[in-house]
Amino acid sequence: MERKSLAPGSSYFYYPRLVCVIGVRDEAKQTTNFAPVAWSTPLSSHPPLFGVCLSPATYSHHLVLATGEFTLNFLPHGEAGVAEQLGRLSGKRVDKVAQLSLALEGGEVIATPFLAVAYAAAECTLVERHQFGDQTLLVGEVLRVHVGADACDDNGVVRLDRIRPLLYLGSNRYVTTDAATVLQPSAAPG
Ligand SMILES: Cc1cc2nc3c(=O)[nH]c(=O)nc-3n(C[C@H](O)[C@H](O)[C@H](O)COP(=O)(O)O)c2cc1C
Repeated sequence: MERKSLAPGSSYFYYPRLVCVIGVRDEAKQTTNFAPVAWSTPLSSHPPLFGVCLSPATYSHHLVLATGEFTLNFLPHGEAGVAEQLGRLSGKRVDKVAQLSLALEGGEVIATPFLAVAYAAAECTLVERHQFGDQTLLVGEVLRVHVGADACDDNGVVRLDRIRPLLYLGSNRYVTTDAATVLQPSAAPG
């Protein structure tokens, strides 16, 4: 294969990545702020831990440290425009919920609501944070998960025939998955 040698940071080779929108209460403004994050990952099953990388320059970073809790929101492909807007605006200056007319749903455990349009959402409390270069890894313990009634099959797997998850490709481009590409290889006979 002919290859190009590139400096780190000049290519989105590790994308597409699932878009995870972080929801955080802004007590001072009596609203909730939402910001998309492409750099997020599950970290542990027991206890259930989920990590999100946020730049300390974001307003959400400041809010998470202030409240100690946040929601994770996973959007369908049709909400790419909303994700892009949430990523362009800062809650420091605007109330994104009001400006984008976002519908919210209340959680069960924490005070922070989640986005009604999310096919899956989780309630988290901040348990740890680590600085890595220009990002902070904020580690949340997942206390409760809310998934659309028909979003997952009996094995808990997202039903791609019904849900088209929003993934970020980089450089303002978004993609989704195709249910026709799902493979379920059987184990090789022993
Ligand atoms: C699709 C997408 C993914 C993003 N991923 C990240 C990320 O992983 N970490 C980060 O700090 N910012 C990320 N951003 C940028 C923030 O969402 C952006 O700075 C946002 O305005 C922060 O809002 P806030 O200031 O209200 O918190 C992303 C933006 C978009 C559109």
